[in-house]
Amino acid sequence: MEHFLAISDLTPDETQDLLDVAVKLKKQHFEGGNGPQFAGKVLGMIFQKPSLRTRVSFDMAMRHMGGDALYLSPNEIGLGKREAISDIARVLSGYVQVLMARVFDHAHVLELAKWSSIPVINGLSDYNHPCQGMADALTIQEKFGKAKGLNVTFVGDGNNVAVSLMHASAQLGWNFTLASPEGYDLTPKAVEVAEKIAAKTGSQFKYLRDPHEAVKGAHVIYTDTWTSMGQEEETAKREKVFPPFQVNAQLVSEADKDVIVMHCLPAHRNHELTDEVADGPHSVIFPQAHNRLHAQKAILARLLGAA
Ligand code: CP
Ligand code: NVA
Repeated sequence: MEHFLAISDLTPDETQDLLDVAVKLKKQHFEGGNGPQFAGKVLGMIFQKPSLRTRVSFDMAMRHMGGDALYLSPNEIGLGKREAISDIARVLSGYVQVLMARVFDHAHVLELAKWSSIPVINGLSDYNHPCQGMADALTIQEKFGKAKGLNVTFVGDGNNVAVSLMHASAQLGWNFTLASPEGYDLTPKAVEVAEKIAAKTGSQFKYLRDPHEAVKGAHVIYTDTWTSMGQEEETAKREKVFPPFQVNAQLVSEADKDVIVMHCLPAHRNHELTDEVADGPHSVIFPQAHNRLHAQKAILARLLGAA
């Protein structure tokens, strides 16, 4: 693994391998702590957008394993504005050992990877959110084991988080259903890539308009904000379109009785997800957020050749 830019860049075996490493490092973390596998390594973290989970979990992942992390704010870097991305990549390659970038335009993280001589991790772009997808897959396997054929349903906007969940589902042989309003579908490119993987792993995909139909038999119901970072101008329009796609107690009651409810957070409570469900017995939103730490340790370990 040279970079970590999309779950669809992996093979099914590599995807499962990362999850197995995450399980191992998580166990180690809770049984006395990880070793100093990342001693002398520094992660540079470029953020063009705000973050709680990604920033803190990457920083703590490095510290837990004996390394360090450096936060670079939007104002400091001015990615592509103050300085060309190709120059930033080549300069930082001489200072730190691994880079993580949260960007608006997916092309920008690809550009960083193209020019840097160190591994680059995609910490979210307008296209996908692969670190989230790995933490989500870890959370799902912790609940259901490594069974194939699970039914994973994403209700809401066919956004970056949905893309990585679909790609993880394809790699792991889970069936993936999206229920979205017209005009908020997954990008054709993301679907094409996923369907190629699914042809090998046996995953089935469905794209529906009716959330009630979509959650029938679901083992996982996943939702995310109706308005992603960078789409703030569309908030009023989206608030009118998405209410029928709210994940509430009624919708959850129509799924499998052991369904888990997931959200990458930050949540807009009582918009895409009601308080009752977020804080109810099916919700795994906090263990899911905590799994960012363990999944990312595995990604870093594989990229740094430390596991
Ligand atoms: N889920 C997630 O990526 O959260 P942050 O935006 O807080 O990093
Ligand atoms: N889809 C959301 C995810 C935030 C972690 C966004 O891009 O804003």
